Amino acid sequence: MSKKYYITTPIYYPSASFHIGHCYTTIIADAIARYKRLTGYDVFFQTGSDEHGEKIERKAAEAGVTPKEYVDKIIEDAKDLWASLGISYDYFIRTTDKEHEEAVQKIFKKLYDQGDIYKGEYKGLYCIPCESFWTESQLVDGKCPDCGREVKEVSEEAYFFKLSKYQDKLIKFYDEHPNFILPLSRKNEMLNNFIKPGLEDLCVSRTSFKWGISVDFDPKHVVYVWIDALSNYITSLGYPDENAPMFQKYWPADLHLVGKEIVRFHTIIWPCMLMALNLSLPKQVFGHGWLIIDGGKISKSLGNYKDPREYIQDYGVDAVRYYALREVPFGSDGNFSESALINRTNSDLANTLGNLVNRTISMSQKYFDGVTLNPKVREEIDVDLIANVLALKEIVEEKMTELKVNEALESIMEVLKKCNKYIDDTTPWTLAKDETKKDRLATVLYNLLESIRICAILLSPFIPTTSKKIFAQLNTKETTYDTLSSFGKLEENHKLNQPEILFNRIDIKNVQA
Ligand code: MSP
Repeated sequence: MSKKYYITTPIYYPSASFHIGHCYTTIIADAIARYKRLTGYDVFFQTGSDEHGEKIERKAAEAGVTPKEYVDKIIEDAKDLWASLGISYDYFIRTTDKEHEEAVQKIFKKLYDQGDIYKGEYKGLYCIPCESFWTESQLVDGKCPDCGREVKEVSEEAYFFKLSKYQDKLIKFYDEHPNFILPLSRKNEMLNNFIKPGLEDLCVSRTSFKWGISVDFDPKHVVYVWIDALSNYITSLGYPDENAPMFQKYWPADLHLVGKEIVRFHTIIWPCMLMALNLSLPKQVFGHGWLIIDGGKISKSLGNYKDPREYIQDYGVDAVRYYALREVPFGSDGNFSESALINRTNSDLANTLGNLVNRTISMSQKYFDGVTLNPKVREEIDVDLIANVLALKEIVEEKMTELKVNEALESIMEVLKKCNKYIDDTTPWTLAKDETKKDRLATVLYNLLESIRICAILLSPFIPTTSKKIFAQLNTKETTYDTLSSFGKLEENHKLNQPEILFNRIDIKNVQA
């Protein structure tokens, strides 16, 4: 039986349409999921939406619709966005799903019954018109950050989760699982800034708004945010039924992929909740950096971004995917700009990949009527090319295991560049002029076509549409991972299809940066 791999994205707030920042996480998760599938894993890839809370309640009221109507519309749109980006999720969980809501009530009750949740009093700074609680540090000039009005210190009855009880166990878990949080800098941040100073119990219910999962044994309370949201990773698998086949098969998760601002919730609250429920902990949480626009975070409220579908329409889905995967070293923040997207598309996809495929197929058509021949009249220069191409599989595997997605792509591009150089060095057009060099010419073209086939397989998790187009031009059936182990699997005496341009060069002058 193949090994399982369970990967998740955060479940996003549908308070407004999803933007390029949400796409960033989701494209990376998709590429990892596709890569794992390619290499033979039984993958479960989950994304979804975190639909409760005061903000959505308020937004819906402003729009004159019910919260459910409000989120339904955004989720329909989000699913359309994921389809246009080729996101191959296996399950989309919504926290308003009945199964999830019931499961969260059971989790809450279980934790209460065993004494891990208790009733207390929540003190906070409250903005009456906005009906929102704020912490001291969230205030702007001592006033509500949303509306700028005075806030009042109030207290309300609330339930708390005993986070503090799990502090020592959590530190021990970190020690025993050094790769639980990646990049490592984020682990140190968690330990030094949050855990070592002492964990405080967490407020897990509210009475000040209604749009949430009600605490069934005390219905004036709704479950507040993190118990509802984080549980999604197990309720989708059938928990609290620990014998549910999906739960048995896929839990614990192999990777929770999250933005850096929610690493804290995934590496402190979530593990403590799981310990309290006596469940295994996820194997890894990776906190990636942010895409920044003009030095600031992409923000719904600032509206400093376009609908990601506009980029897809203008440049193609794989240009957007490739940019998200390649441009920013995974883990760091990176600037998002349309001009960088264009430059990346032109340099890597049009010049390096597109050109190589186009030149090679065109020459094969011109000199051999599109028929592949491999007489193996090899020269020294071939040995180097073939060694580079064959080494790629291991390099990509190593990079992907470390989640260095951008470096995996960089290594593939390096080999494609070597292929272009191989054309320049072997000059097939010169060989074509000499009848006695016919077999050498056929060998050169075969080496190139086979290198392209291998690279297209390795590129398929990242730019799947383009890989399919390449396979179609090569007219090959040899597209599986196990065909990468040796050089020469591309069918011989086989007819290629006509070349088609994969990426047109984009004129940057037509676009505002
Ligand atoms: N609902 C919570 C998550 C609950 S998970 C149990 C939430 N939602 S969110 O809509 O605010 O989405 C946050 C996530 O979206 C980030 O962690 C990140 O994955 C992604 N991003 C949102 N903006 C981003 C950028 N500007 N750049 C990169 N990723 C960004 O938090």
